[in-house]
Amino acid sequence: MRHLRVPNQEVEAVLGHIRTREWGAVSMRVFSTTDGRARLIPLGSNAPEELPEVFSIYPVEMHEGVPEEKTETNWLTLLAKEIDQLTIDSLGDSLPSNHEFIGDMMIVRLDDNVVPYADAIARAKLGTHPHVRLILNDDGVQGEFRIRQLRPIGARLGGSVLAGATLEFAPPEILSTSVAVKESGRVIRCDPTRAYFSTKLQTERLETLALAKELREELGRPLRIADPFCGVGPAIAPLLAESDLVGDLLAADLNPDAVGLLFENLSKWERRAYPSEPNPLSRIYENRLVGVADATLLAENQDITGRWDIVIVNLPHRTIEFLPKIIPLLDRSSPSLIRGRVIVEESEIESANTTIESILPPIEPGKPAPILHIKRDYSATLRLCSFEAWISKE
Ligand SMILES: C[S@@+](CC[C@H](N)C(=O)[O-])C[C@H]1O[C@@H](n2cnc3c(N)ncnc32)[C@H](O)[C@@H]1O
Repeated sequence: MRHLRVPNQEVEAVLGHIRTREWGAVSMRVFSTTDGRARLIPLGSNAPEELPEVFSIYPVEMHEGVPEEKTETNWLTLLAKEIDQLTIDSLGDSLPSNHEFIGDMMIVRLDDNVVPYADAIARAKLGTHPHVRLILNDDGVQGEFRIRQLRPIGARLGGSVLAGATLEFAPPEILSTSVAVKESGRVIRCDPTRAYFSTKLQTERLETLALAKELREELGRPLRIADPFCGVGPAIAPLLAESDLVGDLLAADLNPDAVGLLFENLSKWERRAYPSEPNPLSRIYENRLVGVADATLLAENQDITGRWDIVIVNLPHRTIEFLPKIIPLLDRSSPSLIRGRVIVEESEIESANTTIESILPPIEPGKPAPILHIKRDYSATLRLCSFEAWISKE
């Protein structure tokens, strides 16, 4: 059977393409090469003899197909084979019932009392998720760049799972946190240990797309969109995918690693070259102003200030504080839009709404007031909210 040999980090993205086209072999599974550096994706009879150009970098190899096995779906069943039931019961709610997938990585958050059982948890979770390559414990986000502190607790090497001391023998590629994530038909390259990225914002990004289309309708032309806290660019991915939506684009971040990944992403999404290294904000193309910059200083630049139809403000801990420095970026000669996210105590949402409204210029008549909508809990008392503010022309 034909198999596509794909480096581990690209497997999720390639599998996405294969599944969309229904070219995978039914009832056969993906398996690892003997050196653990790549995986072999079985191709079914639907897959054409000659694969399209995008797949040409991956060698096609002949192997016997490996049938899919029935996988245990309850990780606690596998955990019970690792540690005794009394211990499991005593750990109770401390055991990580939730996890987040980023590409082929699984991220869990282990409470301190559970950390001694990290190896067993890793084996059990990997056992129930055969497509996951690496499982990491999330030690939280750090600093203004919102970078995740992720510690590997288990990895898949060939047919076996490495956890605890054996992880030391894992080849570096198996432990790599650089992954490709497929979202709304686009592949986003990210590394949450180097630049902020969250898979949980997909709905938020689609809402931003809907708002942008609404503004385009109103203005009757492509938009000038600024995302001055853009990270690796996930919010602009769906905007760029919509034809005639983005005219001029400003995408900036203070974190050079985020900009490096953004350049990689933009060069794939737009099929044109971007610099291979992060560089200060500059016009890479006539309609693309991209690079490292401090968003709070952008409005001081006469070539940038007062020129944008939409500004995305995604630094939720500081959005309200930064708004006065961001608002001047808007082009007030026509209606414009600010799309923001804010983290706030639930009890203070009302007063935050009043503060936001007092900072903003007048709202466009007929549009809703810019109130915070709770998106999810950030902690026991803090809520992650978003808002959109339709700003009237001056
Ligand atoms: C919560 S993340 C959002 C990233 C991206 N918009 C997304 O949705 O994935 C906030 C981003 O703002 C960047 N940042 C923090 N302070 C900044 C500043 N003063 N100017 C520009 N970017 C900044 C961080 O590096 C981080 O990438």
